[in-house]
Amino acid sequence: MTNSHILVHEFEYREPASLDEAISVLSEYGGRAKILAGGTNLITWMKMEQVAPECVINIGKLSELEGVSSQDDQITVGPLTTIKSLLNAPSVQAEHTALAEACAAFGSTQIQMMGTVGGNLCNGSPASDTVPALMALDAQLVLVGPDGERALPVEEFLVGPGQTGLRRGELLRSILVSRPRPGSGSAFIKISRVAADLAKVNAAVALVREGDHIVDCHLTFGSVGPTVLRARKAETLLIDQPFSAELALEAGQAASEEISPIDDVRSTAWYRREVVKALTHDVLQVAWERAGDRKKEEGSRDQRSGIKGPSIQASRIVDYVSRSAEREIELTVNGVPHRLKVKPNELLLNVLRERLSLTGTKYGCGIGECGACTVLLDGRPTLACLTLAITVDSSNVLTVEGLEGPDGRLDRLQEAFIEHAAFQCGYCTPGILMMSKHLLNENPTPTENDIRDHLKGNRCRCTGFASIVRAVKSCTTTDNR
Ligand SMILES: Cc1cc2nc3c(=O)[nH]c(=O)nc-3n(C[C@H](O)[C@H](O)[C@H](O)COP(=O)(O)OP(=O)(O)OC[C@H]3O[C@@H](n4cnc5c(N)ncnc54)[C@H](O)[C@@H]3O)c2cc1C
Ligand code: FES
Ligand code: FES
Repeated sequence: MTNSHILVHEFEYREPASLDEAISVLSEYGGRAKILAGGTNLITWMKMEQVAPECVINIGKLSELEGVSSQDDQITVGPLTTIKSLLNAPSVQAEHTALAEACAAFGSTQIQMMGTVGGNLCNGSPASDTVPALMALDAQLVLVGPDGERALPVEEFLVGPGQTGLRRGELLRSILVSRPRPGSGSAFIKISRVAADLAKVNAAVALVREGDHIVDCHLTFGSVGPTVLRARKAETLLIDQPFSAELALEAGQAASEEISPIDDVRSTAWYRREVVKALTHDVLQVAWERAGDRKKEEGSRDQRSGIKGPSIQASRIVDYVSRSAEREIELTVNGVPHRLKVKPNELLLNVLRERLSLTGTKYGCGIGECGACTVLLDGRPTLACLTLAITVDSSNVLTVEGLEGPDGRLDRLQEAFIEHAAFQCGYCTPGILMMSKHLLNENPTPTENDIRDHLKGNRCRCTGFASIVRAVKSCTTTDNR
């Protein structure tokens, strides 16, 4: 029985200072090391004892691997770009709607702010959300290793469940997405059990429209086979034909025969085949209409600095720490500076709770699902159960204890939770408060939908969210009591 409270496995820890160094460190370990980006997959697998690398190589401080930049004919996405940053990139919003929709449908807010697009690709999951969109948009991946650089289309990169075309010693350096031709439109739709969950099925399409004909089309599906896949027979049916709802349904039938779904915890093969018919119709219809509407959006060019996420901090580089050694880190928690010695496998959650006695931050699931362990790390919602303490050296952490003012008075948000009876089991409340605080910091006038969407990664099984939403709403600047 796995204990997700701690990370049992011990490992060496490296923080390369450059991409070249990362490649040489990766080669040094010859397949016995794992790259760490946002850690939402890797730390979960390590906790579940599914992988046990000899060394964890944290590339999270390589700012050259982060951000979206626009060139005349393409955008270049760094693999460390978080899902949230990609969602907010102006060029993605304006020109690559399928990718923006995939990012919006991705997990919880915390997972969107920790998880990276490179991690999503290199994880190799058939249920990944950005991958169908990137495949439909015909993205090219630039891989770099000891033998130099090479480019691979997304489709060739995907080898099997959890398997990718990365060769030993290689890492993903960048993702290239061409700017759309005139008459292009794209869309992404996801069906999942709840909002913050992996897909039962997802679908993406990028098509080019000339008059009433589709002249080019890439139609992709996730969670319906061993890898994300392209429905080529359905594409052939669509290309060079006048578009109609009947044609879209015909393509859906063809796609449902091309996929190879299985029964698993999230859905059945039968359901997946049925829903693919409807999804194909819907995703085609939306992309077709967008292709008709698209106006050339100027001013959507990203500057590399313009859309950087807050993930990469200027902090000291930790070149090497052996598995049993401790490394001193500096943390400012709720305004109080601390110096602590931590081992590579110590989690931020346990450091806060057990070393600093800040037990307000809770352990719920230990694998990123419940949100009870959410803290604000340099202002960004972070799941402390999936964060190695050694990676957050020189950071500022805000926990629920830090919401209280210096005069000992509760935060306005905490008062509102009491007033609206939004304090429920006490276990989930600290995480919900931290997420609500972050939302109000970013958006002082959220709608009810904004609040529900922001809190979708915080699970409550006792009551519900109505009183929580009322409490947060009462703190908005337009609705302040
Ligand atoms: C609660 C929860 C909900 C989730 N919901 C979703 C969801 O809705 N949709 C979805 O698609 N995914 C979801 N995921 C999966 C995960 O969050 C994503 O796959 C995420 O994008 C992974 O990025 P990361 O930076 O955290 O990757 P990491 O965990 O750091 O890395 C993942 C893998 O990629 C490798 N890697 C990372 N970067 C590189 C690189 N540049 N070069 C080579 N190898 C690299 C790592 O070695 C590791 O093997 C969820 C995960 C959790 C825990
Ligand atoms: S304990 Fe971290 S998300 Fe559940
Ligand atoms: S607030 Fe914890 S289960 Fe509802």
